[in-house]
Amino acid sequence: MKKKYIKLLIVVLASSFCISIFFFKVRDVEHTQRDLATIPSVPAATPRKPTPVVMSTIKKKTRSVIPFELPPLKISETFRNDIPKNGAFWNRKLHSLLRQFDSPGNQTDKDPRGKFKCQPESLELLQMNIQDIHSYPLLYRDFLRGMECRNPPLLIDQPDKCSSDSEKDQIFLLLAIKSIPKNFERRQAIRETWGREGLYKNGLQVRIVFLLGGSSEDDPSLDKLISFEAREFQDLLVWDFNDSFYNLTLKENVFFKWMLESCPNVSFIFKGDDDVFANTPAILNYLKSLKPEEATALYTGQVISDASPLRDPKIKYYVPQSFYEGPYPAYAGGGGFLFSGNLLPSLYHVSFYIPFFPIDDVYTGMCFKALGINAMKHDGFRTFDIREQDRENPCVHKDLLLVHQRDPQQTIRLWRGMHSTMLTC
Ligand SMILES: *[C@@H]1O[C@H](CO)[C@@H](O)[C@H](O)[C@H]1NC(C)=O
Ligand SMILES: *[C@@H]1O[C@H](CO)[C@@H](O)[C@H](O)[C@H]1NC(C)=O
Ligand SMILES: *[C@@H]1O[C@H](CO)[C@@H](O)[C@H](O)[C@H]1NC(C)=O
Ligand SMILES: *[C@@H]1O[C@H](CO)[C@@H](O)[C@H](O)[C@H]1NC(C)=O
Repeated sequence: MKKKYIKLLIVVLASSFCISIFFFKVRDVEHTQRDLATIPSVPAATPRKPTPVVMSTIKKKTRSVIPFELPPLKISETFRNDIPKNGAFWNRKLHSLLRQFDSPGNQTDKDPRGKFKCQPESLELLQMNIQDIHSYPLLYRDFLRGMECRNPPLLIDQPDKCSSDSEKDQIFLLLAIKSIPKNFERRQAIRETWGREGLYKNGLQVRIVFLLGGSSEDDPSLDKLISFEAREFQDLLVWDFNDSFYNLTLKENVFFKWMLESCPNVSFIFKGDDDVFANTPAILNYLKSLKPEEATALYTGQVISDASPLRDPKIKYYVPQSFYEGPYPAYAGGGGFLFSGNLLPSLYHVSFYIPFFPIDDVYTGMCFKALGINAMKHDGFRTFDIREQDRENPCVHKDLLLVHQRDPQQTIRLWRGMHSTMLTC
């Protein structure tokens, strides 16, 4: 009887040993195959050493941040003149804020950060200012109610994203990608290709963050998955607000604030969508080639000039007549643009004198304009994409900085093609 048990035990132990060896082998093979197949090598990019990051779970978290000063501010005359004074709600609001800024005693020595109080406005109150508010789309009314809410809690942070041990490890380029919770696949394609963190040619450090709000009400909760993803990749920033199109201006604003608190010394920022293909090595070459005076006041991308509000309620970019009237100052398309990190404090400061606008890239353009900085056109940014027949051609993409739009599979194919040693253009 005893012997039989011992025999059985030996058999069980031996077989479980074999099984575990087998599984480890399979996992190894899968890993290397995956690495070889889907992660093309990035020439001259040394991957970043993972640093242990304290991850807060989906719970409110307060952390002590270094308070930052707002620099002295001057609001440009051209901007003031570009936005007509008329009866539209936003125009009135802007010019009232500008008057506050100009009035004695309300000068820049006063910190405007406490100015906006988040008290979601009622429709009745808004109707006093916008007679036809009941004809506005529902999301628009949500936007209006929350227009003054600028401090949503940060749910998932990456406090060590930009920490560095030495001067030479300062981050040269930070990629800030607007994403929404459910776009896991897009984020992963970016991580494996043009969004890879690390040390690139000429000793340039690159880091990436994805900017997210919460899952929307009608979606299944993705909190657990997002939590896992944040821990695994340490590149998610998640705020507690509804991640809708009209909240993208808020997303940019809280991102600027995060930068000032957590990542203040970055040389350049690329801000873009998660469905673009950016050519990071080409972007780095371009940035490296800038003259010092260009590098400190950069705002470049595909410039959209002479744009005006679209009045068709069925389209995404609809802006009601009673909300805004006038042209938009020239702006860089929000699919992807570049700017100098040293502008962040001023950009954030001036945002307190410009009411939130439902279209984020138009808003960004206004903020730059208010600082006296014009969007500079760069032909390498193709937010309206390139010729159909060139869209999978790595050679055509070699000299471009950005194209919109590519799906995850196209992104991976393009990147692999561009970095293939067999490629002759
Ligand atoms: C100064 O600014 C505050 C809000 O920041 C505003 O309530 C007040 O009316 C302004 N004063 C003047 C004279 O504009
Ligand atoms: C933006 O987010 C806030 C906070 O979650 C929400 O109250 C508001 O409705 C959102 N706005 C839109 C247009 O979805
Ligand atoms: C998001 O919007 C919905 C209504 O659309 C609201 O019920 C919910 O509270 C909002 N979430 C936040 C975080 O404000
Ligand atoms: C940023 O640079 C300033 C001045 O060079 C330095 O005092 C500060 O410690 C740096 N901050 C970080 C977070 O590296």
